Amino acid sequence: MIKKGIILAGGHGTRLSPLTKVLNKQLLPLYDKPIIYYPLSILMLAGIKDILIISNVGERRSFMKLLGNGKDLGIKISYIEQFKPRGLPDAFIVGEEFIGNDDVALILGDNFFYGQGFTNKLNKSLRNNTGATIFTYNVNNPSDYGILELKNKKIKRIIEKPKKPKSNLAITGLYYFNNKVVKYAKSLKPSKRKELEIVDLINKYLREKKLKAEFMGRGSAWLDTGNPKNLFNAAQFISTIEERQGQKIACLEEIAYQKKWISKKNILKRISFYGKCEYSSYLKKIM
Ligand code: TTP
Repeated sequence: MIKKGIILAGGHGTRLSPLTKVLNKQLLPLYDKPIIYYPLSILMLAGIKDILIISNVGERRSFMKLLGNGKDLGIKISYIEQFKPRGLPDAFIVGEEFIGNDDVALILGDNFFYGQGFTNKLNKSLRNNTGATIFTYNVNNPSDYGILELKNKKIKRIIEKPKKPKSNLAITGLYYFNNKVVKYAKSLKPSKRKELEIVDLINKYLREKKLKAEFMGRGSAWLDTGNPKNLFNAAQFISTIEERQGQKIACLEEIAYQKKWISKKNILKRISFYGKCEYSSYLKKIM
C-alpha cells in the first residue's frame, strides 16, 4: 500500500513564458485556484497523506505560504528544491530521503485529472501495485507524449514523443512505483535532450514484467495546462462543471473534511487565511 506521494512542481515552464518568468507554473491560476491544488487533490483522493513538494531553487517559500505544513488539510507536506530541472525521474533522487524504504506515487504538478470513478481506480490500483503502475489516456496528438506500443493487448514498448506513433495511448503524469524506483532512477543516463526520461524508468519495470497500465476511459478528462491555449481550455472546463454543479473540483479542504481528516476548526482557519472570497464562501457552505 502506497502511503507517500511526490508532486513535481518545478520545471522551466518555457511554453508558458512570460507567465512563468517570475512565477512558478504550478502557482498560476487554473480557473479559481492555483494549479497545484489539482494534483494535490488527486493524491489526497488516493488516500495519500505524506506528501513531498519538489520545486525549483528559491520557490519553496511560496508553496509553503499557500499550503503550510499541511496540518489544516489533514496531511503532512514536506518541501525540497530541485537544483535544476533534470527530468522527471530526478524526483526519486531528490526525494530519496523522503521515500526511505517505502513505495511512492508521483504526480506532475501541472496535470489535471477528472472523471466519474477515477477515485476508485486510484485506490484500487494503489492497493494492487507491486512494481509500477501507469495511467493511460487516449489523445489526439500522440507525437507530443510518451506513447504505448501494444501487441496482443499487451504493452510491448513505450516510446517518448514518437514520430510515427503506434497508438494514441499516452502515459499521463501520474505513476505508482515500488521502492526500487530510487535505485532505477539513479542508474538512468540523460537522453539526447540532456534529461532523465520517465519512459526509460518505466521501461525498466516493463522488462522486469512488473508494469501495469490503467486505462482512463473516454468519460474522464486528463487535461494539459502546459501552454496558454491548453491552460485556458482547462480553466473553461473547470468553470463550466463548477458553475453547473455548484460543487468545486479540487477543493482540498472539502476532500480532507469528507475523509474526516480535519474538523470545522481547521476549515475556519483556512477561511481566515483565504479572506473574503468565493472560495471561502464555498468552504462555509460545505461545513
Ligand atoms: P514539462 O511540462 O515536461 O516541462 P516544464 O514544466 O519545464 O515546461 P516546458 O516544457 O514548457 O519548459 O514538466 C512536467 C511537470 O514536471 C511540470 O509540472 C514541471 C515538472 N518538472 C519538474 O519539476 N522538474 C523537472 O526536472 C521537469 C523536467 C519537470
